[in-house]
Amino acid sequence: MSMIAIALLLQSASPPPYAMPGEEPVEEYVVKPENAGAKPFEGDAMAKAFGGQDGIRRVVNRLIDLNGNDPVIGEIFATEDRVRFQRTLFEHMCYLLNAGCIYTGMDMRSAHKNMGIQQADMNRMVENLQKAMDAENVSFAAQNRFLSKLAPMRRDVVER
Ligand code: HEM
Repeated sequence: MSMIAIALLLQSASPPPYAMPGEEPVEEYVVKPENAGAKPFEGDAMAKAFGGQDGIRRVVNRLIDLNGNDPVIGEIFATEDRVRFQRTLFEHMCYLLNAGCIYTGMDMRSAHKNMGIQQADMNRMVENLQKAMDAENVSFAAQNRFLSKLAPMRRDVVER
């Protein structure tokens, strides 16, 4: 067997190093692009509107802070794994904005199951996301395009 074949075999046998040190273990799931719940934007306009990966990281970190300290929905995030959430939420946003990432987290239904999330919680999360995007000077046009991309995921997040 050639060295290349052995290298390929080894690569497929060991799990990719997605998880960061400090993440809590999660139930096994299959990593696939469809888990993101939507197809990414095309071109680089959206990535630029968010200030590239650095801007997206700031939006994500601010959103996580706002959600965690929120008097209405803060409770839902009380048991979050911040290390993982910071990674997977960033990947999700970066992937959808076509800013050069792959999303390795769960699908939206699995990620939010048994959290009892209601429409009012969803609205609150969207308000926090708008604040986080405002702080990063993302144009309203780009904000609305991104929110439209997320809107259909509501049905997998909100419990009826
Ligand atoms: C369209 C709207 C939403 C999107 C796109 C979204 C996206 C995500 C993503 C990508 C993850 C990470 C999944 C993983 O680590 O495998 C996640 C986890 C989570 N989401 Fe959402 N979410 C949405 C709405 C909400 C709402 C409304 C709430 C609550 C008010 C919420 C609460 C949570 C919590 C608590 C976690 C788990 C955090 C952890 O322990 O790691 N999400 N969400």
